[in-house]
Amino acid sequence: MADGLTIRVDGRDVLVPDDSATLLDVLRDVAGVRSVKDGCAPQGQCGCCTVLVDGQPRVSCVTPVRRVGDREITTPDGLPADVSSAWGAAFASTGGSQCGFCTPGIICRYEGLRVKGAAHDDRDVAAEALLAHLCRCTGWQPVVDAWVAFPSASESPMSDSAARRAELEGGVAQVVGPEVALGHGGFADDTAPLDAPVAVPISEGDGWAVAETRAEALRQAGKIQGRRTTADSSPPIELPEGDWVRTLRTSWIEPGYLETDAAWCEPGGEPASPLANGGAFGAKSTSEVGAVARRLADEHGRAVRVLYSREDAVQRGPKRPPIAAGVRADGTGVIRVARTPGIADAIAAVAPEFEVEEVDVPGPPTSVDIRGAGWAEAAVLAASMRDDDGWIEVPGGGAAQATVADDGSIAVRVRAGDPLDETVLRSYCTGAAHMALGWVTSESLTVDEAGEIHDLTIRSFGILRAIDTPTINVVVEEDERASVAVSDAVFTAVAAAVWRSLDFPPTWPTP
Ligand code: FES
Ligand code: FES
Repeated sequence: MADGLTIRVDGRDVLVPDDSATLLDVLRDVAGVRSVKDGCAPQGQCGCCTVLVDGQPRVSCVTPVRRVGDREITTPDGLPADVSSAWGAAFASTGGSQCGFCTPGIICRYEGLRVKGAAHDDRDVAAEALLAHLCRCTGWQPVVDAWVAFPSASESPMSDSAARRAELEGGVAQVVGPEVALGHGGFADDTAPLDAPVAVPISEGDGWAVAETRAEALRQAGKIQGRRTTADSSPPIELPEGDWVRTLRTSWIEPGYLETDAAWCEPGGEPASPLANGGAFGAKSTSEVGAVARRLADEHGRAVRVLYSREDAVQRGPKRPPIAAGVRADGTGVIRVARTPGIADAIAAVAPEFEVEEVDVPGPPTSVDIRGAGWAEAAVLAASMRDDDGWIEVPGGGAAQATVADDGSIAVRVRAGDPLDETVLRSYCTGAAHMALGWVTSESLTVDEAGEIHDLTIRSFGILRAIDTPTINVVVEEDERASVAVSDAVFTAVAAAVWRSLDFPPTWPTP
């Protein structure tokens, strides 16, 4: 390498090109450190790429590599063995890591705090530190628990039960354990050969830009840094006419999973699955990236990596469809919903008292695969007509009940059959409760009347931060049944309870 620059990563010297690459680019694709994750580069907003530079947490996707030539860079792979195993154990023992995509960056952030002597019994210290991060899975509380647990954390073998509960709740087979928290969960792009060219979608048109590096592929594809809009995000569907005693209009909702779609494939081979360690709340089940990787590998005669940027995931991935619904005094009603294959059946299975009208609304693709799409709204509307916070039961699944106290804390009770692993079960329940609270009060995706999406950054969807998340208490009730998934029931029960606690405002997110 003629014009090389030597950087020091985890105690070793690594020769990298002396160009405009970011530290994240060279860590993942030259140094081969795949524990450092890319959730939004170059937006610098999710924290997944955080590493330590001379002991200080730094977001590597917005750090030019030229700036760190004389610095000591530490990734989760370079932490002292006793420290990294304690962090792995802290996260595994609290359920602070589910898919694990956000966790390596959070561990680096926490480690920077720890060496400065921050108190492990101070939850506010951890919540403040998490301002620089996003986690979509855990609902934050278990992540803060991991900070508290660190001093006394000890390795305990992960059980098969934990993985079985994670698979039930996440909808796909998942690795569970300390290695996931430390960045080795086996995500599709982490197993790709270092020398494989990278393909990214071209911004204007249907093609793919293929180049030797991700930075070059992004440049060829004409990617711009995602933006947040100031445009109005009011619900797009008008209410049907009717004698309603209750109405609800919702917006487009971005699933907001942190690991953007990725796959790679050898010529003639099977592509690595974009569902390698996370179900993305149903949003990746029809992702195109595997098929594209297979086709491009065959065309180029070598392994090809296919990667979505955050902007691509927002532009191309399916959304939760918006609705406009009215309920009559007798509990019957009409749900108007953006046309989505399968949505009418999903609603009818839970709330046959609602007539479903599918309407064409200009906007992004929608999917019935997304957590509770359509039926959760129907169940929440039906629950609002009852006198109390009753149990919500998912057909063939678990049941949940939730209440919101005056201080905003949320109490959740669940019946999930055999819990298998209570730590994992509670983590999924807390995450579902956090997502439901955000759905009702803060989340939306701005789409204009022509159907163009205006919110393209990971921070623009309204995902609740750790410091904005109230205490969520989960009680696992005795249930003699075999294990059943319960997090979708929690999601629905918490949405119903939060809406009730706010006295049923007619639009979500609530003003
Ligand atoms: S990938 Fe760097 S902050 Fe998101
Ligand atoms: S565990 Fe945080 S995003 Fe999945």
